[in-house]
Amino acid sequence: MVQTWTTAAYLIAALLFVISLAGLSKHETSRAGVVFGIAGMTIALVATAIVALGSASGLGIALLLVALVVGAAIGLWRARVVEMTGMPELIALMHSFVGLAAVLVGWNGFLEVEGERADPTTGAGAGHTELAGSLLGIHHAEVVIGVFIGAVTFTGSVVAYLKLSAKIASAPLTLPGKNVLNLGALLAFAVLTVVFVITPQVWLLGVVTVLALLLGIHLVASIGGGDMPVVVSMLNSYSGWAAAASGFLLGNDLLIITGALVGSSGAYLSYIMCKAMNRSFLSVIAGGFGAPAASGGAEVTGEHREIDAAGVADLLANARSVVITPGYGMAVAQAQYPVADLTRTLRDSGVEVRFGVHPVAGRLPGHMNVLLAEAQVPYDIVLEMDEINDDLADTDVVLVIGANDTVNPAAAEDPGSPIAGMPVLRVWEAGTVVVFKRSMATGYAGVQNPLFFRDNTQMLFGDAKERVQDILAALRTDALARR
Ligand code: TAP
Repeated sequence: MVQTWTTAAYLIAALLFVISLAGLSKHETSRAGVVFGIAGMTIALVATAIVALGSASGLGIALLLVALVVGAAIGLWRARVVEMTGMPELIALMHSFVGLAAVLVGWNGFLEVEGERADPTTGAGAGHTELAGSLLGIHHAEVVIGVFIGAVTFTGSVVAYLKLSAKIASAPLTLPGKNVLNLGALLAFAVLTVVFVITPQVWLLGVVTVLALLLGIHLVASIGGGDMPVVVSMLNSYSGWAAAASGFLLGNDLLIITGALVGSSGAYLSYIMCKAMNRSFLSVIAGGFGAPAASGGAEVTGEHREIDAAGVADLLANARSVVITPGYGMAVAQAQYPVADLTRTLRDSGVEVRFGVHPVAGRLPGHMNVLLAEAQVPYDIVLEMDEINDDLADTDVVLVIGANDTVNPAAAEDPGSPIAGMPVLRVWEAGTVVVFKRSMATGYAGVQNPLFFRDNTQMLFGDAKERVQDILAALRTDALARR
């Protein structure tokens, strides 16, 4: 009876996850998508807890309840305090938990079955001893594959977390023969898997675990800052496959379905992002395999020109069309609210204002769209890079608010640049470009930006939120009145 109800609950939860993903694919339905996801996860958790409580000992029940309460408390606290700019780090850290859980489930699955085979009378999970012949072989393959994917995901995600939170340098690690190292590790894993399935031994699983932990570190450490967005979504995909592998081991259908959903959607997202950044998908997932060594790019020199808030207000008041290209700095400054105010003020006085959002602006896919939606900027004036790029040459003023790599002309013009080939917003084609930032420092990819030295570019230094507020004040008191 419980079994039937659990299967039904898992099916409903799986359906809710699919509906949730569909909802999350559009701005307008994303809130509903999140609600469906929460509903699915609640049903899944309750059903799993009921099954577990039904078969657990007193100590098991106590441990389960403590784990549920502690996990829920930490989750609620982190979700409440996390800044939008800290989301990628948090996501990377969560992927590492999924990876670690898959490693533990794999090891547990192995030790449980081996323990029962050694002494059938003490087997706690009766039924495993029935595994024989090819079934036992499949079980061991599930163990070793689950442990491998889980361990790569675990250390890869920890390194991604350290890079994204700037606790370690974002520059790629280039060990001599790094491609041979990666390929060698994959080959060794294939051989060890075969040997382990034939003669399962604890030391073999230990070797696979250590190999995968090291491979995870190396794969992600070899990837440069500019490609980190793809890595985060790739690790998302790996965490899905790790969960699916755990599902096979635990005989949990929902975990298999959910893992496959996360695994395939993460892989597809990575593919789309690679296309958007003109990167080879295979090259990025193989830790920069075959990527030509960037020379570091041509040296960028020249004089930059500065402008103040009143000057920008004048430019805007006299413009017909304005495009705003936001980036990570807008998120850091939390400038989206004054930016939304500025947009309203300009539109009310007849200036056409639109936004151009680069696919990897900020620190996670959709980062800018979420911030702009939060500040109630209308969806229909928020355009993607490909939708706005051809209009930039006819635009009077472009405001680059806290963006840097995503508007760097070196990507289009300097084949030696580390970001060469990455499509960028061609803001330099506009009449005037105003760049909001605090200093002449480089962006996330650590690449110099020749845009700052162009004749039609002016720098507005300072915190983006304060500067936009200054512009608003100048517009309201003076510039618009003279329009
Ligand atoms: P970045 O290239 O990182 O540039 C952000 C700029 O904002 C910096 O130049 C910084 O200059 C400025 N800034 C920071 N705080 C500011 C503040 N309070 N006020 C004003 N300006 C401020 O950003 P981007 O153009 O959005 O490009 C995104 C980069 O991140 C790409 O390289 C992308 O590959 C990478 N990345 C993206 C993702 C995803 S999925 N979106 C994930 C990981 C990494 P100052 O320090 O001089 O102020």
